[in-house]
Amino acid sequence: MTMSAAESVRVTHAHGSYDVRIERGALRSLGEHVVRATAAHSCALIADANVAAHYGNGALASLEAAGLRATPHTFPAGERSKTRATWAALTDALLAAAHGRDACVVALGGGVTGDLGGFVAATYLRGVPVVQAPTTLLAMVDASIGGKTGVDTPAGKNLVGAFHAPSVVLVDADVLATLPPAALIEGLAEAVKHAAIADAAQLDAFERDAAALRRGEPAATDALLRASIPIKARVASADPHEGGIRATLNFGHTIAHAIERLTEYAIPHGHAVALGMVAEAAIGEALGVTAAGTADRLHTVCRALGLPHALPDLRAEDIIAATAGDKKSRAAVVRYALLERPGACARADDGSWTHAVEPAVAANVLDRIGAGK
Ligand SMILES: NC(=O)c1ccc[n+]([C@@H]2O[C@H](COP(=O)([O-])OP(=O)(O)OC[C@H]3O[C@@H](n4cnc5c(N)ncnc54)[C@H](O)[C@@H]3O)[C@@H](O)[C@H]2O)c1
Ligand SMILES: [Zn+2]
Repeated sequence: MTMSAAESVRVTHAHGSYDVRIERGALRSLGEHVVRATAAHSCALIADANVAAHYGNGALASLEAAGLRATPHTFPAGERSKTRATWAALTDALLAAAHGRDACVVALGGGVTGDLGGFVAATYLRGVPVVQAPTTLLAMVDASIGGKTGVDTPAGKNLVGAFHAPSVVLVDADVLATLPPAALIEGLAEAVKHAAIADAAQLDAFERDAAALRRGEPAATDALLRASIPIKARVASADPHEGGIRATLNFGHTIAHAIERLTEYAIPHGHAVALGMVAEAAIGEALGVTAAGTADRLHTVCRALGLPHALPDLRAEDIIAATAGDKKSRAAVVRYALLERPGACARADDGSWTHAVEPAVAANVLDRIGAGK
């Protein structure tokens, strides 16, 4: 364990602001952080079964030591639990535990728990505070920040939800020690995305530190958290309700969501994002929006980090057809967040941060870079 000072990154939103606290060991003082950030007297600790087994007892003990009445609520791990049914079961459990308006929710876990627990908090008694305690790298750099909460429906991912800003986000990288290596590497994809849209020097650093990052070595991981979290925080603060620049966080995700849907989620999100970023950079290059060599640069970095670099065995036309089902598309035209070059996003002629792309152009690019082989 490296000992380093706590660092706080501030996020602003329509109704105020909150801190993302980056500090190894922060969860040992979970209760104190909850008391400081909320006016709550009781606390519902929401975690999936895996995370509860590792960290549930310690979290409960810390909450109780800080004088909070705390009740644990678990659900089966995995995206399949991110449903209205689990939301209903959790809210019923909170009601049965007699949590009142002076309660708060602590969402301890990965992005599934953060989205689900955040949505429970957004809706419970018309809204109680939530503390986000992310335990995956993906949730630390991305999902826990920005206030988007929600659940999946049969029609698609994240289609029912609410904006509900956390009172504080506690990023304690010590918990990454128990995260399966594959999940750690998936999270690296979202950090690459942040670097790709905002900071080319970080791409160089990630490539240089690739071996250490893949092993989850503390110094390299801490440096990544301190570099990547401020980018998400800055973009979310500039655009709390996703009307403008927050669309840039969708870089790589139009193609990624299509790949996930077509493979019925057999390809994990982080892998799909890595493939999507390279594909969308190539699409941008074909349109003359993105500087030549950008797709190659991202390809090299993703490969160094152990992320996949070959498109799955899908037809290019099928991938592009599936992008039309993306809920972020406007009307019939699919709009992509594109780069200008590594480290910078491109504005469209209409001033927006997304670009209309002809399906035939996108399909040609995918064919060329390897779809359908
Ligand atoms: N709200 C947002 O802005 C936002 C942004 C990006 C992604 N997301 C959402 O995040 C979700 C994906 O998040 P995820 O990848 O963290 O998945 P996840 O929450 O399912 O966690 C992945 C797995 O790791 C396990 N786990 C978590 N922390 C652990 C730890 N410290 N030690 C051991 N095991 C641990 C979990 O039990 C789970 O099995 C998706 O539902 C996605 O839609 C939301
Ligand atoms: Zn993502």
